Amino acid sequence: MRLFVATASPHRQKTDCAIVGLHEGSGGFTGSAAALDTALAGRLGRLIKRGDVHGKTGELRLIDTDGAACQRVMVVGLGKKGAFGRKQYRKALLAALGAIAKTGARDAVSYLAESVAEPDAYYDARLAAEALGAALYRVPAIRSVRKPAEPALKSFGIALAEASQKSATQRGLDNGRAIAAGSALTRDLANLPANVCTPGYLAQQAKELARSYQSVRTQVLEERDLKRLKMGSFLSVTNGTDEPAKLIVMRYDGGRAGQAPVALVGKGVTFDSGGISLKQPPGMDEMKFDMTGAASVFGAIKAAAEMGLKLNVVGIVPACENMPSGRATKPGDIVRSMSGQTIEVINTDAEGRLILCDALTYARRFKPAAVVDIATLTGACVIALGAHLSAVMSNDGELAGELTAAGLRAEDRCWHMPMAEEYHEQLKSNFADFANACGRDGGAITAACFLAKFTDGLHWAHLDIAGTAYLTGSHKGSTGRPVPLLLDFLLGRA
Ligand code: BES
Ligand code: MN
Ligand code: ZN
Repeated sequence: MRLFVATASPHRQKTDCAIVGLHEGSGGFTGSAAALDTALAGRLGRLIKRGDVHGKTGELRLIDTDGAACQRVMVVGLGKKGAFGRKQYRKALLAALGAIAKTGARDAVSYLAESVAEPDAYYDARLAAEALGAALYRVPAIRSVRKPAEPALKSFGIALAEASQKSATQRGLDNGRAIAAGSALTRDLANLPANVCTPGYLAQQAKELARSYQSVRTQVLEERDLKRLKMGSFLSVTNGTDEPAKLIVMRYDGGRAGQAPVALVGKGVTFDSGGISLKQPPGMDEMKFDMTGAASVFGAIKAAAEMGLKLNVVGIVPACENMPSGRATKPGDIVRSMSGQTIEVINTDAEGRLILCDALTYARRFKPAAVVDIATLTGACVIALGAHLSAVMSNDGELAGELTAAGLRAEDRCWHMPMAEEYHEQLKSNFADFANACGRDGGAITAACFLAKFTDGLHWAHLDIAGTAYLTGSHKGSTGRPVPLLLDFLLGRA
């Protein structure tokens, strides 16, 4: 895909499809739409006058121009003037590019950035490139019938709102392309079924990343290594399955030698049946997505390598299945974590924290500047924040602020949740140092409190992405989140 900065005015720009905006009500035409309307002898204006287009949010209309410089115009409804922010901009582009990808247009140029309230050349370009990647993404479908045809779209331009911003716009397009590539990898891995995407498959994909990028090195630890490291908590989760667990370590070295890395730790439960605390059948298939935290670490490493990010990053992925069997861990069992702390496994379905705690302890050996873990950790998080925002909990208010700000800028938002001492009391155990589960109250927070017991002295934050990692229902599939948030955070540190 060619991404470029378009500098010609819309009626002079040679393109298969110009994407222009139209506001609702008296706001009317945007500057580019007005210029095109003149060039098309008032055709756009007539559409409005007749009541054929209204400029409502989400409205799309493809118009043939009979041989003007642009062959087609995609008129995009922007809603009320002033209410068109970065979020609406991203959504509008996603819809428009999705529709254009179904046409024969081989290239398109967007004029929507000029309408964004509080415009920012870099972010407006980056979000456009990300939206393009998302619009062209196709799930790795495993079907016997032939796959749908590839979209014809091969080139995409974004028009400058201001001539002085060419370099910021180009940088936004480049970074957006890298983030889109990372998100696509995350989505591919997460969308694959658990009988394909096993811990071993993830380990192979990590080695593949190291083959593709000189800046990435991969190391895979096997179960015998995990035993030697005394990761009794991680190993207790994989007891019930025949599929070998892996601890995957990916190092991206883009910063100066010796610079403390940022550690990203991703929950890689390739299937979460709940174990002996077996889940209910409805929606159980969605537990193939329980490795999305891990997949987002893969995606972040790929995006960092694609853009040549000037920062050292280490990705740590504990990967296993959570299955019931005669060898599975039982409720009431007590396990010893790598940290030495003992855990009473009250509920084998609270397995994410059991694998993450040992991975977090392992992260210490990299002397990280900051540690961020990413996990589809709790159903309680979905109850608290729904599918729109991820949760962030941290032992470091500044780090939580950094992630929240990154999410806002990247249009991949998260919300800072509290982690007060009172919540810790819920994890008390009569038989071990603490329990892995407790009552349902504040479930997303108590899960974070459990992880906090392993992160003393680290600058650590936890992202619970249980609600945001994937969509359910007819749009079931991975969202590629929180790769945009993570990259924004990493860019801020580079
Ligand atoms: N993977 C689940 C969390 C989850 C639930 C993610 C729904 C996405 C959608 C996690 O391993 C889990 O089962 N958590 C339990 C914890 C409880 C037993 C303390 C939960 O949320 O019910
Ligand atoms: Mn579970
Ligand atoms: Zn789980």
